[in-house]
Amino acid sequence: MKILAFNGSPRKTGNTTALIGAVLEGARESGAETAEVRLHDINLKGCMGCLTCRKNPGFCAQKDDLSPFLEEMKTADGLVIGSPIYMYHVTGQMKMLVDRIYSFYITRDDGGYDSALPPGKPFVLITSQGHPEPERFDRTVRWLAGMTAGGLGCKEVGRIVQANSHLEPAGENGGLLDEARRLGRVLAGQNRA
Ligand SMILES: Cc1cc2nc3c(=O)[nH]c(=O)nc-3n(C[C@H](O)[C@H](O)[C@H](O)COP(=O)(O)O)c2cc1C
Repeated sequence: MKILAFNGSPRKTGNTTALIGAVLEGARESGAETAEVRLHDINLKGCMGCLTCRKNPGFCAQKDDLSPFLEEMKTADGLVIGSPIYMYHVTGQMKMLVDRIYSFYITRDDGGYDSALPPGKPFVLITSQGHPEPERFDRTVRWLAGMTAGGLGCKEVGRIVQANSHLEPAGENGGLLDEARRLGRVLAGQNRA
């Protein structure tokens, strides 16, 4: 049982990091092995637009530190996707991951897409924002869930949209951390035989 997390925040002690950490802690409590990819801290390159993935579906021709983790996305039992909101959207680091995930969308002749991921892989979504209204960036949150996982046939088991982060840091919010740990336990429990 392996849970793989992608963290789009550049901040090592920020809100996204605290919440992803708690999700992974919960997953480990349920016996999972966990790994976190801090996108800011690896040699991460953007999509080259080479479209090699249209001819070789499921594989990204760009080679960098992300490459092995893209492969791990296929075999992981569950995923965690987390990003702060920057300028109404996700961080640039997270957008680079999203573009690379295009390689998992397999173009069909009818114009639709098939997925390079096995169906039903469970995932948890985390976002963090300064704005006090949780719904303020709903379009971005839904876009992130859809592009990274939902659109690939993964199944969302829960999400945390942390609002008002300047006044209420996630790392000091026991209730929110408990909820993140609970989601981690649910995530790790999904694929058990
Ligand atoms: C460049 C930048 C842009 C931001 N844009 C927004 C924004 O559009 N809306 C918002 O509510 N918060 C915005 N924020 C605040 C962050 O979303 C917020 O501080 C978040 O909790 C940071 O997450 P982290 O601690 O995981 O890095 C921005 C912060 C930065 C540094």
